[in-house]
Formats: sequence, C-alpha cells, structure tokens
Amino acid sequence: MSVISRFPEIIERAALLADEAYITKPPLADKHGNILFEGDCLELLKALASDPEAEKVQTIYIDPPFFSESDYDAIIEKDGEKQKKHAYRDRWKDGMAEYLIELTARLILMKNVMRSDGLIFLHLDWHAVHYVKVIMDEVFGEKNFVNEIVWQYKSGGSSKKHLARKHDTILVYSKTGKYKFIPLKEKSYNRGLKPYRFKGVEEFRDDIGWYTLVNMKDVWQIDMVGRTSGERTGYATQKPEKLIERILECSSEEGDLVADFYCGSGTLPAVCARTGRRFIASDKGALAIRTTKKRLSEFYGDPEIEEQMTFEFGSDA
Ligand SMILES: C[S@@+](CC[C@H](N)C(=O)[O-])C[C@H]1O[C@@H](n2cnc3c(N)ncnc32)[C@H](O)[C@@H]1O
Repeated sequence: MSVISRFPEIIERAALLADEAYITKPPLADKHGNILFEGDCLELLKALASDPEAEKVQTIYIDPPFFSESDYDAIIEKDGEKQKKHAYRDRWKDGMAEYLIELTARLILMKNVMRSDGLIFLHLDWHAVHYVKVIMDEVFGEKNFVNEIVWQYKSGGSSKKHLARKHDTILVYSKTGKYKFIPLKEKSYNRGLKPYRFKGVEEFRDDIGWYTLVNMKDVWQIDMVGRTSGERTGYATQKPEKLIERILECSSEEGDLVADFYCGSGTLPAVCARTGRRFIASDKGALAIRTTKKRLSEFYGDPEIEEQMTFEFGSDA
C-alpha cells in the first residue's frame, strides 16, 4: 500500500499516540532557566503539554532523524584516545508509515507547547520532506506555512547516478498566523561589482566589490562543521551554530524560551547559552546528552554543570 493511501491512518494513529494519558509533573529548569532531558521527547512533550500554566515556547527548531535508513556514530575521546561509538539509529521496521506516525505525534504536542506567536523550524532532507510538508499542513494548517528554507552546503559525497545532493530543507510554520519575525538583511552584490549610485539607495563596499543590503532570502549557503573547526564535537550529524543562530535571530529575542527536542550534540543549547536565550532540549541518546553537557560546561566554565544539568521529571533544580 502506498504511503499516500495510508495518510488517514497515519494521522489517526499519531493523534492517538499524542493523546494517550501520561501523568507526570513537568521538569523544572536549572539556575540558568534551562531544561535538558535525557529520554524520548514524546515523554517530555506530554509532561510539558500537561501543564497549562507552563511557559510556552517562542521558537522550536528540530532536526529529527531524516528516514535515511542508516546508523550514526560519534567520535569521543577516552583516556586520550579517539573511539567510535554508536550515537543513534534512523531505521524503521514499518518503513515510512511508522516514521511519519512517530514524528506526527510529536509535532501535534509541539504545537501545544508553542506560544501563540511562535514559529517552528523543521529540518529534513529529500528522504521524507515531501510527506512531512503535507503533514505540517494538516497539523499546523496550510495557511500557517511561512517558509521553506533551503540550506545549501558543499560537503558530503556525490554519485555518478544523480546530481550531487547538496541541500537540506527547513520547513517553517506558525501556530496562529500571527508570529514574531525579525527580518534579517544580507548583502546583494551589484552587477559588475560597481556602484549603481541610485538616488536614495545606500551602497557599501567590501573586498569583493559594491553591494546593497536586501531582505534575506530563503536559500542559505552555510558551510557544514569542518573537520578542523573548533565547533566540531565528533557527533555525526552536528549542525553549524551559524545555521541555528540565524534561525533564532529571525524568530526570537534575548530572554525568550526556545526548544530543540532532538538536540543531538547540543548545537541549539550552545547557541542559546551564547546569545542569551533559555532553552528546553532533549535527546534519547546518552552520548548526545553527554556531548551537550560538555559543550555547555565549557561555555559556562562550570565543570559541575555535567552533574547538574539533566533533570528527572518534577525534581528540584
Ligand atoms: C540529526 S540528530 C540532531 C543533531 C543536532 N541538531 C546537532 O546539531 O547535533 C537527531 C537526534 O535525534 C535523536 N532522537 C531520535 N529520536 C528521538 C526521540 N524520540 N526523542 C528524542 N531524541 C530523539 C537522536 O538521538 C539524534 O541525536
């Protein structure tokens, strides 16, 4: 049976999964106002959604498994030696349908924990984004579609059988149609790199040539985290801080609460710490949480953060 013909069943089963009762207190934040949860984000989302008084999230960025049918490793250093460890699995017994049910249930709950003026950024690639865009239309509403960002990069392999696949897609939806959005600017180089001298148009010059500043477009060229980059954690699917920073810059302000329910190596928490946002983050992999804590403790210069940061539900900060 095709995936499309299973859509009604997928939506129904996801709604049931999101609805199943789950009685627990939401976790409390640490002294920086942050929550880092080790476990399935379904549990965390149910706990957060169960508290009507809980502060709602301004921006959600998620980078879940892409339905790549692969396993991912992380390189960690132990006793001065580099070791390869299993980080997470992106394989699904019942194929695409199972993947979509699991993701959709969590998306339904994410909508509940968002502020009414919030945005969600959902990062995927060619494997599943076409199906998930239809699901986002269903969960968030077609009218609440905001952008489809193309993140273009140079790294990764290529094939003789097709064009080199060098972009991911980030779907952006609002909860209500009224949302916080801070327009960003980017350089647009003049033709011939020479000044136009149009009346009333401010022009600038750098090493490349003359340019004007225009509203940022939805195609972003940002390098992946390189082998020698200081950002590199060894976690296989780590995303660049510049990408997450741009997402947070256009959708949130200092002091806002933002969330990443599939935080991996902790890129979003690291950017939040540096740019003055508070975060809720989770990952079901112990290695992911360990890497996130390491990044945060290095930023805060606080070795104890490794002990303090992860919370049981309802425990004291
Ligand atoms: C693509 S990686 C995220 C990478 C991250 N953006 C970074 O910059 O490092 C996806 C992550 O989702 C986690 N994950 C998969 N299913 C999950 C679930 N149900 N709940 C929480 N985390 C999950 C995996 O352990 C993995 O770390």
